[in-house]
Amino acid sequence: MSSADGRQPKIRLDDIHKTFRWTSKGKQHVVPALEGVTFDIRPHEFLSVIGPSGCGKTTLLRIIASLANADIGKVLIDGREVTKPGPERAMVFQAFGLFPWKTVIDNVKFPLTTRKVPDAEATRRAREQLRRVGLDRFETSHPHQLSGGMQQRVGLARALATEPDILLMDEPFGAIDAQTREYMQEELMKIWHETDKTVVFITHDLDEAVLLSDRILVLSRGPGTVRRVVDVDLPRPRWEYDVRAHPNFAPVRHEIWQLLRRDLQAQTEEETTGGD
Ligand SMILES: Nc1ncnc2c1ncn2[C@@H]1O[C@H](COP(=O)(O)OP(=O)(O)OP(=O)(O)O)[C@@H](O)[C@H]1O
Ligand SMILES: [Mg+2]
Repeated sequence: MSSADGRQPKIRLDDIHKTFRWTSKGKQHVVPALEGVTFDIRPHEFLSVIGPSGCGKTTLLRIIASLANADIGKVLIDGREVTKPGPERAMVFQAFGLFPWKTVIDNVKFPLTTRKVPDAEATRRAREQLRRVGLDRFETSHPHQLSGGMQQRVGLARALATEPDILLMDEPFGAIDAQTREYMQEELMKIWHETDKTVVFITHDLDEAVLLSDRILVLSRGPGTVRRVVDVDLPRPRWEYDVRAHPNFAPVRHEIWQLLRRDLQAQTEEETTGGD
C-alpha cells in the first residue's frame, strides 16, 4: 500500500474509469470521461492537474471528493477506501457555489452547521478564515455585494473553516482578475506552507501550475488518462523571489505546453474533419 518513497500516499487513485450515459429524445449518449487513471498523491503535496477542456479534470476531482462515483476503480484516503464525502476533504468550486440569500459569514458557517458544530465554534472558525482571506469586514454582506474575487475568497474561507486535510480546488482562480489572482496564489501558497494540507488543484494556466505545484499531472484529451507527471524543482517559499525568472521555470512550462499543444492540435483536426 505504500508508494515508491516508502510512505503511504495521502490519496490513491486506483484504476479510475468513468463513462457518462444518458438518453435524450430517444437517442443514447455515451461519453467516456476517464479511463484507467492510477495515481498516488503524497501527504502535503501540492499537485496540479492540467489537460485539455473536457478531458475529465472536474470529473476526477468530484470522484476524489466522493461527489460522483467511479464506474470501476477506487479512491483511497490514508489507505482507506472512501465512497462518501467526508470532513477530511473540502472542495472549492470554480463558480464559487455560494448561497445568494445567505450572508458571507453564514455561507462560511454552512458546512459546519450541517455537521452540527456548535454555533459559537462555527462563528469562531468562520471569522478566523474570513480574517485570513481579508474579508472580516464583509461578514454581514451578501454575495451579490462582493466582486468575483471576493466571492472566491469566501469560497476558500468556507473550505478552510471545515479544517480539511485535503483541499480540492477546481480552477478556483479562473474567473478572477489578474492582480487578485496573484494575491490569491500567494495566499494559497502561505496557507499550504503553514499547514500540512494536501492540495489537488485544477488549472488551465501553465504559469499558475508551475508556480504553485510540487508535481503536475498532465491528463490526455478525453477520455482522460495519465499522460505524464512533471516534477517542479523550484525552491520554496516561492513568494520570496521571482519564480518566473528562475532557470527551472521555463523548461517545465515548455514541457507541459508541448504535451498540451499536441492534444489541442489533434482535437482541432478532428473537429475540422468531422471526427473519427
Ligand atoms: N454530468 C454529466 N453528464 C454527462 N456528461 C458529463 C457530465 N459531466 C461531465 N460530462 C462529460 O465528461 C467529459 C469530462 O468533463 P469534465 O467536466 O470532467 O471535463 P474538464 O476536464 O473539467 O473540462 P473543463 O476544462 O472544460 O472544465 C466531458 O465530455 C463532459 O461533457
Ligand atoms: Mg472542469
